[in-house]
Amino acid sequence: MGNQRSVSGVGGFPHFMPPKKSQKGLYYLNSARSCLYCLLKAIKPKTVYFPKFVCSSFLSYSLELDIDFRFYSIDENFLPLVSKRAVSDSNSLIIYVNYFGICSAQAEYVINKFNSQRVIIDNSQSYSFKKENALATIYSPRKFFPLSDSGMIFSDIKVEVPNEFGSINLSHFDKKSRGFHDAAYTDFLACEDMLANAGPLALSDYSLRLLQSFLGDRKSLSIREIFFKELDERFGSINLLKGKFDNSSQKFPLCYPLQLSPAIHTSTLVEKRVFAAIYWPNLANTDLNTFELSLIKETVNLPLSNIYDQRDFEYLIETVSSLINS
Ligand SMILES: Cc1ncc(COP(=O)(O)O)c(C=O)c1O
Repeated sequence: MGNQRSVSGVGGFPHFMPPKKSQKGLYYLNSARSCLYCLLKAIKPKTVYFPKFVCSSFLSYSLELDIDFRFYSIDENFLPLVSKRAVSDSNSLIIYVNYFGICSAQAEYVINKFNSQRVIIDNSQSYSFKKENALATIYSPRKFFPLSDSGMIFSDIKVEVPNEFGSINLSHFDKKSRGFHDAAYTDFLACEDMLANAGPLALSDYSLRLLQSFLGDRKSLSIREIFFKELDERFGSINLLKGKFDNSSQKFPLCYPLQLSPAIHTSTLVEKRVFAAIYWPNLANTDLNTFELSLIKETVNLPLSNIYDQRDFEYLIETVSSLINS
């Protein structure tokens, strides 16, 4: 007797088991900007207080929503310069970025100040991957794992995830594994462009399966905290940002931000093949305050990824030390 069940095909070649069912209150999309868009579409706030100092891509999709975005600055302790009263209206929200993944104490302060149900935490630069005590928490796991796409929302709000799926693009990881960093970087940039143009999409099953296995083994990320501590021991006494982020033991660092006077420049590190990111250079000509500008112009964000052994780590320390002493 024929089996009426439709199958996409058995046998052929090995493949992942289907992804685990998503838990309640956890949504997977192709990027953090997609998460923000779908979340705000579901919440429908009238006014959203949004940081001036954050990657411009984050807001790109949400600008089409009928929301009055009001842009705020941060102070020298990474805290929003927004009054409690401004966000007290039930139609208002504030989005706070946990900068570099080392501002958990500030995120907690913001949640307490404005009321948890008025706050969305952007944990795109953190690898804690847990729900904060806020209306919603957004993550961008692709900043920590070898994935071309991925975004996560933790929220009790019911979010509509798009029906269409994104696609995974692994060519830059393949090239990097073969030792071709520069070619891999070119592919990475092309992949970022594709993601930017893709729009809000659900995370593909393949990426989701990879992400779930990475999340199951996220202890591998904790080496970042050890590197962070060692860099802080080495450079903390001259780091002008020291004291602004070390009041919390909850650190899930993306990088080690080192602000010096005189500053060393990211380009000189890159010449020595230490690939430090700048957050966010295209904001330099916008209406930022002195502190925010110093985070672009006088801060080098020492990388905590692609450090495979002690020799790599020592190379990083020696390179930075030699630039400081030159
Ligand atoms: C703090 C922060 N939030 C959000 C985003 C947007 O993340 P995604 O590229 O996954 O949309 C970025 C991207 O760099 C970011 O740095």
